[in-house]
Amino acid sequence: MTQMTSSDVPSMGRRQFMNLLTFGSATGVALGALYPVSQYFTPLRAAGGGGGTSAKDELGNPVTASGWLEKHPAGDRSLVQGLKGDPTYLIVDGDSVIGSFGLNAICTHLGCVVPWNSGANKFICPCHGSQYDSNGKVVRGPAPLSLALTNVGIEEDNVFISQWTETDFRTGEKPWWT
Ligand code: FES
Repeated sequence: MTQMTSSDVPSMGRRQFMNLLTFGSATGVALGALYPVSQYFTPLRAAGGGGGTSAKDELGNPVTASGWLEKHPAGDRSLVQGLKGDPTYLIVDGDSVIGSFGLNAICTHLGCVVPWNSGANKFICPCHGSQYDSNGKVVRGPAPLSLALTNVGIEEDNVFISQWTETDFRTGEKPWWT
């Protein structure tokens, strides 16, 4: 099998706007409402307190851990705005804490936003059927690579997202997204 690299994946920034339009019109799923297009023209890099970029909710408000856990039960995977405004999944662990890693929701095939399917316990891309397991590891193509990881940190109840530069624990390889 041919080894894919980051250069094989189209630029996320360029794709993002078109992807959201494609996804919203193709599926009618409420992500369009969750991520108003206008949000993507707003600078999203908030002061990071040294811990990265502040995670934002659908209204652009900073996400707090306590507030998030009130509404999101164990096992939940829901989107926030993360690095560069990319839709990013926070994962609520079984013990009702926000997991230390998040998943960039942009499909590594052609960049659709990939919804979480709790019934199937997978992320399933509506565009061409790629599938990712609950940790974002690709399990079915045509997506060539797993979803990008991010670090998730909590500082004084605020949720921060930062670049994952460590080994990808799902593959044992260097991150393709750095
Ligand atoms: Fe996700 Fe093609 S964009 S499978």
